[in-house]
Amino acid sequence: MERTLIILKPDCVQRRLIGRIIQRFEDKGLSFCGMKLMTISRELAEKHYAPHKGKPFYPPLIDYITSGPVVVIAVQGDRAIEICRTLMGKTFGFEAAPGTIRGDFGASKSLNLVHGSDSPASAEAEIALYFKPGELLDFRSADHRWVFVENDV
Ligand code: RTP
Ligand code: MG
Repeated sequence: MERTLIILKPDCVQRRLIGRIIQRFEDKGLSFCGMKLMTISRELAEKHYAPHKGKPFYPPLIDYITSGPVVVIAVQGDRAIEICRTLMGKTFGFEAAPGTIRGDFGASKSLNLVHGSDSPASAEAEIALYFKPGELLDFRSADHRWVFVENDV
């Protein structure tokens, strides 16, 4: 079972969309093995977004992600990384397809509601930034085998 890091960004929390956005991940059949409400420090944000350092949008990105509380979630399920990216939609809300989180709730370039890891390597590194190993549950939902099929072809 794959794990990925999802962050409900400050605009999502400020707009009281936490419940509606979390529902989409649950509806898809994914489950959660870690969840916390926190405000990201600049130091942590700089580690998380290190791959974007030097890009023009890097300073406003650090300001944005540290601007208020976020919900950090370790999401699990087969193909969780790909599934979450599909649920999120394209980076900018005005380009994201209807039916996706960003397509349904976002209209701007920079306030895009949600973060999701983009590869197995970044998922592992990002989960380690936000959760200590002991904070992640060894959990499998009761309906797991009705959602994910072993050796699915
Ligand atoms: P994320 O990392 O937050 O899940 O978003 P993403 O993969 O879809 O996009 P990424 O390219 O990793 O960019 C990280 C965040 O930086 C902001 N951004 N602004 N103005 C711009 O051209 C621009 N490009 C990226 C967005 O907040 C994006 O989520
Ligand atoms: Mg990204």
